[in-house]
Amino acid sequence: MGKKRIGILTSGGDCAGLNACIRAATHHACQRGWEMVGIRYATAGLMRRPADAVTLTPDLLDSSFLRRAGTVLGSVNTGDPFAFPMPDGGRADRSAEVIEGYRSLGLDALIGIGGDGSLAILRRLAQQGGIDLVGVPKTIDNDVALTENAIGYATAVQVAIEALDRLQPTAASHDRVMVLEVMGRDAGHIALNAGISGGADVILIPEIDYRLEQVAQKVRDVRAGGRNFALLVVAESVRTPEGEAVTRSLSGQTRYGGIGQYLGDRLAELTGAETRVTVLGHVQRGAEAVPQDRLLASVYGAKAVDLIAEGRFDRMVAWQNRQVVDVPLAEIVDRSHRVDPAGPLVRTARQLGISFGD
Ligand code: F6P
Repeated sequence: MGKKRIGILTSGGDCAGLNACIRAATHHACQRGWEMVGIRYATAGLMRRPADAVTLTPDLLDSSFLRRAGTVLGSVNTGDPFAFPMPDGGRADRSAEVIEGYRSLGLDALIGIGGDGSLAILRRLAQQGGIDLVGVPKTIDNDVALTENAIGYATAVQVAIEALDRLQPTAASHDRVMVLEVMGRDAGHIALNAGISGGADVILIPEIDYRLEQVAQKVRDVRAGGRNFALLVVAESVRTPEGEAVTRSLSGQTRYGGIGQYLGDRLAELTGAETRVTVLGHVQRGAEAVPQDRLLASVYGAKAVDLIAEGRFDRMVAWQNRQVVDVPLAEIVDRSHRVDPAGPLVRTARQLGISFGD
């Protein structure tokens, strides 16, 4: 097989393990005698002239990149090139510029590391521009369809568990109810997994409707049972009992945030318990990658290069049944992997006496 020149980019919100994936893909590609080109700031880098890219070599990406959080390539989670926000407030289709930028780099194929939104945009660009694309799933939300694990999720869960471990002693010392709000966008995976592992009394996730009175009753029951503190984990996209999403506008974009404080205030009123709220936020994205993410990222990075070598494009690497596999990108677009309310983890949580407020 001839020498290839491969591009790689990270798109969407950053997370732990991105650098480990870039490292793995670069090591494997260079081992084959190929060239690896890192595209900086994803599609935004391809809109710049000259296109913003840097040659990657194994010696640049030493073992510290296995653990290092963030992305050495930079990322964007705004600025869809098909509806790019313009200074006059309107939107413009700049996809042709992105494709032209990609072509200017003389690449044979592209590895796109992204969540479902980014992968859908990259796929559309690939189809329009005849780009040979392989996708790699990453997101702390773990909501990409057809894969059990996305890069960054395990580390985010670890951070949330550590937060619960630290909230517990202070909750016990002050007889308090501690509410921990975690990220996850429209999926409750972080809240559910951290809640079970961190000993929560209540886990609220968007996939299971709750009633505030049920949550208050659980807090009363815990206290009546002789325990002076309670831990509640809530996913950021959980709605108020009235069905409203709690969001904020940040630089013109809508983001979840605030349901924890809302619930904390209401629970204090209903139970009389002293309540404190912690919003974990971007701390979940910036931690050093845990072993599971280092491994997953390494496997995915190497597998993505394999797919290019095999000429198998328009596919995403995935983790299923303890194996690395690949699935059609077409099948992950417009789908989402959310918590199964009848699944084994929810069942386990209930068996442990954890309340979902339902
Ligand atoms: O998708 C990852 C994520 O961290 C979500 O969990 C969260 O809702 C969102 O991104 C935050 O986005 P931003 O970094 O733009 O504030």
